[in-house]
Amino acid sequence: MIENFDAVTQNVLLNLEKTQKTFWNIARPTAEFLYNTIVNEGFVSGIEVGTSNGYSGIWLGKAFKKNGGNLRTIEFYEKRYSVARENFEQCGVSDVITICPGKALTILEYLPEDLMFDFAFVDANKSESVDYFRLINPHLKTGGIYTCDNVLSHKEKVKTYIDAINSNPDYIHTVLDLPAGLSYARKIR
Ligand SMILES: C[S@@+](CC[C@H](N)C(=O)[O-])C[C@H]1O[C@@H](n2cnc3c(N)ncnc32)[C@H](O)[C@@H]1O
Repeated sequence: MIENFDAVTQNVLLNLEKTQKTFWNIARPTAEFLYNTIVNEGFVSGIEVGTSNGYSGIWLGKAFKKNGGNLRTIEFYEKRYSVARENFEQCGVSDVITICPGKALTILEYLPEDLMFDFAFVDANKSESVDYFRLINPHLKTGGIYTCDNVLSHKEKVKTYIDAINSNPDYIHTVLDLPAGLSYARKIR
């Protein structure tokens, strides 16, 4: 179920979908799935790795805003996160989204020890996926959900991540048949 976003947001999303390939944005069905997951689970704190121009961030931000929560999103490419900042403002989610500019591995390594998330969405350098998981894992609450896009479209690059999450007894993991393949795991302890 997707509620009607305001006209400005709908317009921004439709425009961003026209340049989806250029900015490597997630597909709309994936965005809708992530939105519904956050809203239905009542999640209030999230982290995204790979902001680009903010397409996925708008969906995640809308979901967290509905729940009274917030999102941190990481991007190292200034030209992209400046556009994302404008898009977040236009769509009314800039108050719940913090853009963290810089290299994902460095930012994740220095997250405050007590900072905990109930949702993670990873969509950056596919070869680093296993490291994002290693660094985010200690910050994911029990009961939380960890997701990573492109696990079918970039099978070889994410293999070490898939092996790591499949063999981690703290997670129940599956791959969802969404456009690029979405890795979806619940932390059970
Ligand atoms: C697939 S795009 C993200 C698309 C976005 N999630 C969306 O659907 O709208 C990946 C983004 O991650 C960024 N990125 C790649 N490696 C990164 C790294 N090591 N640190 C920070 N950002 C990175 C790229 O600049 C790119 O904008």
